[in-house]
Amino acid sequence: MIRVARSARILARCTTRIRARCSTGILACVAFACIAFLPSAQAQDGAAERGAQLYRQNCAVPYCHGPDGTAGRAPRLIGHNYSLNGMFKVISWGIPGTGMPEFTSRLKTREIDDLVAFLMTLRGTPAAPPTAPAVPPRALTADAKAGRALFFDATRTGACGTCHELDGWGVPVGPDLSVLPAERFADLREVMARRVVTVRPKSAEAPFPALVLERTEAQVRVYDLTGPLPVLRTFAASQVALDAASSWRHEQATRIYANGELETIARYLRWRNGK
Ligand code: HEC
Repeated sequence: MIRVARSARILARCTTRIRARCSTGILACVAFACIAFLPSAQAQDGAAERGAQLYRQNCAVPYCHGPDGTAGRAPRLIGHNYSLNGMFKVISWGIPGTGMPEFTSRLKTREIDDLVAFLMTLRGTPAAPPTAPAVPPRALTADAKAGRALFFDATRTGACGTCHELDGWGVPVGPDLSVLPAERFADLREVMARRVVTVRPKSAEAPFPALVLERTEAQVRVYDLTGPLPVLRTFAASQVALDAASSWRHEQATRIYANGELETIARYLRWRNGK
């Protein structure tokens, strides 16, 4: 027990310190520094051990450098919740706008397999049996890469990734796009908002559009969609009324992109979710 508690403390300290240092907060940084302390990084058939080795060699330190102020945006690696296929995609395709590179151009497929095997040993809860077999993703085409970069574009406020999660990256306010059929991305200007409601506070505050996250007898938690970045807010249930109608349009959220850019994003999503 004592040993476990101690390594947990070391890990926590290690993670905090590293996250504070790596402003773009890359998976790799945390793992690199903490690897030595991990009790759970045991291999089944040597794959995870080879993966750990590859990690030390390829992933770590250079990608810790980045502009200040974005710390905390990185998914935690230790105790992460990635599915097997999600992890494959992140490792293979990288995360645009962060220091997380794509590895298809750096490692062989078998090496990516090992790396993923290692990363899955760091999962928070034991991995549920995969619902689908692990499929190493196709290499990104140049066009798909451009669309993915626009989706997560960190240089503009209100990129798709600020409201949608893909491969475990981004903010899951709106629906998870990774499971939608490709046809759903025919034209991004025509996305319908069906679940957005109007919140009417009983205070003097003006009504605002929102997506309800949780509603119990005691409280209501919503994402306020007034500005370009959704804001999570909690009210006592007695403080607000909810109106099912809303004048919010998804088009407001995607206006920061030119039409051509939206088409590039749509092609990427169709490519990604297509067969
Ligand atoms: C400000 C937050 C926000 C941004 C930015 C945003 N979305 Fe959405 N998106 C939503 C919300 C909220 C919904 C769900 C609307 C509803 O169901 O009422 C949604 C729904 C969607 C849907 C429909 C999903 C379905 O079930 O059919 C698609 C597709 C979509 N968004 C794609 C995108 C893409 C691509 C971008 C970037 C170009 C983007 N969104 C940017 C908030 C956002």
